[in-house]
Amino acid sequence: MKNNSSSPFPSDFLFGAASAAYQHEGAYLTDGKGLNNWDVFTHENPGKILDGSNGDIASDQYHRFMEDIQSMIHLGVNSYRLSISWSRILPKGRFGGTNYLGIKHYNSLIDALIKNGIKPLVTLNHFDYPQVFEDKFKSWLSPAMQLEFGYLADICFKHFGDRVKHWITLNEPNQQILLSYIKGLFPPNRCSMPYGNCSQGNSETEPFIVAHNMILAHTKAVQIYKTKYQGNSETEPFIVAHNMILAHTKAVQIYKTKYQKAQRGIIGIVAQTSWFEPISNSLADKKAAERAQSFYSNWILDPVVYGRYPKEMVHILGSALPQFSSNEMNNLKNLKSDFLGINHYTSYFIRDCLSSACISGDGASKIEGFALKLDRKGNVSIGELTDVDWQHIHPEGFRKMLNYLKDRYPNIPIFITENGYGQTQKPETAVEEILNDTKRIQFMSGYLDALQGAMRDGANVKGYFAWSLLDGFEWFYGYKLRFGLFHVDYTTLKRTPKQSASWYKKFIEQHLNSG
Ligand code: NOJ
Repeated sequence: MKNNSSSPFPSDFLFGAASAAYQHEGAYLTDGKGLNNWDVFTHENPGKILDGSNGDIASDQYHRFMEDIQSMIHLGVNSYRLSISWSRILPKGRFGGTNYLGIKHYNSLIDALIKNGIKPLVTLNHFDYPQVFEDKFKSWLSPAMQLEFGYLADICFKHFGDRVKHWITLNEPNQQILLSYIKGLFPPNRCSMPYGNCSQGNSETEPFIVAHNMILAHTKAVQIYKTKYQGNSETEPFIVAHNMILAHTKAVQIYKTKYQKAQRGIIGIVAQTSWFEPISNSLADKKAAERAQSFYSNWILDPVVYGRYPKEMVHILGSALPQFSSNEMNNLKNLKSDFLGINHYTSYFIRDCLSSACISGDGASKIEGFALKLDRKGNVSIGELTDVDWQHIHPEGFRKMLNYLKDRYPNIPIFITENGYGQTQKPETAVEEILNDTKRIQFMSGYLDALQGAMRDGANVKGYFAWSLLDGFEWFYGYKLRFGLFHVDYTTLKRTPKQSASWYKKFIEQHLNSG
């Protein structure tokens, strides 16, 4: 790896902060917005969210975006990543008509950003979609989502593309699949055995006094669970991924054939990445780490770059992995993403489970044959854990990840679309402690150093977006986990800069236009 100390950031580098519609907008029934999967899931299953909350109000960015733009100006960012709430624009999808108040809202937001010299980077879909898709055709399990997504994309390109020059189709399909269809933590709350740990309804070990009709009730519950919620096939996540990848290509196709020439923007996809470090130098552990990369981010990135799934997946899954038709494969290869968006938060040690047995506490995955060495139970840790049990601080892994991507997908520009530090709010946590977020500063400083190292190594990185601009609804953690550079008081909705905001402001001052 090369090393020199001059700033590696080119003059057109984007320094930004990020957000997502469901996590920050609130206004869940305002101005004609329809119900989405998260509205329904959080309202029907408050127990699935740690604090029983929902995104009805969230950080209320829908009404307070002018104030949030002031925060961006204070930070000195030259870009802002936001996502479109699908059900705000198309409350019922393709056949239900466009909600022009939704379009008007994003027009106002985009105009205000641009007026203040902040480039919008727009994600078309960040986990939320109209609930009707779930009710009508099981959303991402159906290829119908490709047409729905193409329709949304077209509307957004048409209305916003004169000003938006950076488009992201989907945010983290890999993570969404893991949480929605493998672990069953996100809507539609489906588990795919043997990965998931959803409960399967009433247990058959009930004492024999359980009467006949109770057994039938059990069967009924199991039937409803299996058909509506559980996800009864191990192949389900792969079907979802397939539909998402093809939906992405559909949007890319529409953009490239109808809009790109006139609008002169670029389009890409975002995957969640983690660095997987072999726990030993043995060939078996090294191969296990490669399998982990394949089953995690290469699963999404290989198809959108090369038109095929990673060879490790093909080898292990065989016919369980859906196939691209030759037409789809050509589309994937020819309609290349202009960039890859990378969300990055952590690293893991990986050990092989094919040649030796892994214990389940290692986070072992039987099919892929590797185990993550995780948690606080005395396992070897790759880096200090944050408040969140999945996040190890390991900047070196970020540098390795960027070098790995550079070698695997040469020349494709990369945007770091998310990187951030999660801080939990316990009942006894004082606001001062949250505002005085020195650990977040350490985290950002380490990761931004690693980024510079990777860029000196030759990684073609074009932008960095801190997750997140402000605290918001953190999916199943509710409001108990904060990632923001700005603190949100959820009673008054007041924003206050944390120390990390001042730190990032200084960092941007030093590095913007320094290349
Ligand atoms: C990535 C997701 O895109 C974002 O929505 C989430 O808040 C962060 N990870 C932190 O968990």
